Amino acid sequence: MGLRVAVLISGRGTNLLSLIEAAKEPGFPAEIVLVASNRPQAEGLVHAEAVGIPTLCVPSLGRTREEFEAELDQALATARADLVCLAGFMRLLTPEFVTGWADRLINIHPSLLPAFKGANAHEQAIASGVRISGCTVHFVRADMDTGPIIVQAAVPVLASDDKATLAARVLAAEHRIYPMALRWIAEGKVSVDLDDRVTVAGQNGPDSGLLINPAI
Ligand code: GRF
Repeated sequence: MGLRVAVLISGRGTNLLSLIEAAKEPGFPAEIVLVASNRPQAEGLVHAEAVGIPTLCVPSLGRTREEFEAELDQALATARADLVCLAGFMRLLTPEFVTGWADRLINIHPSLLPAFKGANAHEQAIASGVRISGCTVHFVRADMDTGPIIVQAAVPVLASDDKATLAARVLAAEHRIYPMALRWIAEGKVSVDLDDRVTVAGQNGPDSGLLINPAI
């Protein structure tokens, strides 16, 4: 059966889909027991419904954070979730909620944190002129897009890129590393040290050499 995972979404849910696909693999050490959205119209809910994973909408609109999070916490407890994965979940969580789920709450962000926090990471990356961007899976801490980093993947930023082309390249990388991080956690390989940095047991170096951009 393995680790019981809840995924929180707000939108299209392609990262959710990558986690669902991974969890289908024979012997995968985690199962998705709940997909919850704060927006009833989140497109991603269909991915869960299609494979029979229980879904739930916990509306955030027009409610206080405390009301919203109390209902969310209750839903997570009812589902007996061990770990919560934020996957395009666009609502800031209170320090109380984050503390309550410390080291059991992870997020994926479309930049190489700590660079380019916030909702417009790709615009920031392009505007800054960086040649390499990427994505990060990290444990969640109270400040937005902070917390111990579990895994990152890098992609080049091309001179011809706009927000959409860069986002697509980064998203493909997201779909690779989020399931990896989930597997490692479920296998018990991930620990957060006293200095709030992550150790992954048995980790090797990167699976390829240097990424140099531009390469003339
Ligand atoms: C992803 O780029 C993720 O990194 C960010 O929000 C986006 C969600 O996309 N947090 P999707 O809903 O998983 O397709």
